[in-house]
Amino acid sequence: MRLEQKGLTVWFTGLSGAGKTTISCVVENELRSQGYKVEVLDGDVLRQCLTKGLGFSKEDRDENIRRIGYVANLLVRNDVIVLVSVISPYRQIRTEMRRDMADFVEVYVNAPLEICEQRDTKGLYKKARAGEIKNFTGIDDPYEPPLFPEVTCNTHQETIAESAGKVLRKMEELGYYLPLMYSQNGSNLQASDIF
Ligand code: ADX
Repeated sequence: MRLEQKGLTVWFTGLSGAGKTTISCVVENELRSQGYKVEVLDGDVLRQCLTKGLGFSKEDRDENIRRIGYVANLLVRNDVIVLVSVISPYRQIRTEMRRDMADFVEVYVNAPLEICEQRDTKGLYKKARAGEIKNFTGIDDPYEPPLFPEVTCNTHQETIAESAGKVLRKMEELGYYLPLMYSQNGSNLQASDIF
């Protein structure tokens, strides 16, 4: 375990299928392998438990975000690095999260809607287009991109490793992550050497 670890919320926002879960998973594994305490709060998972019963109206999405933010805060004050992975389509509530959290990094996981729709990993865009799902983000519900995110990952142009590397480098730059990696000849490696 890292004795010098500081708590931080890394907030991944973006359309469904943009790559939030994938990137946060790579970042999680990297941090864990380096001895950091990490938790992932993923919208798809939390909607089965903590935020079960909430729908996709603006009010419900905002409530979803507030509950997740509350849990993130509890963890962060115990020095955990929290990776929050939720669409969080509304700028105002994301601004509220930033305001309420001393240690906060916003990651815009960006990919054009057409690409997310082509990927359609869960088959939900098809259903939304067919009118079987209402208020689907990007189709008949808004997504407001961040204006000043600390990191932007363009997942249609970068590899997963490149996107995860951007997040880790920002964390390193801000003093939340100090990679301790050794090459075969024993010299120190930085995140930028591998990603
Ligand atoms: S958020 O808008 O409240 O931040 P959250 O990230 O928790 O959303 O959940 C989004 C996930 O719910 C999507 O990845 C998708 O699997 C599922 N989903 C079901 N209905 C919708 C919908 N109408 N809009 C967006 N995502 C939906």
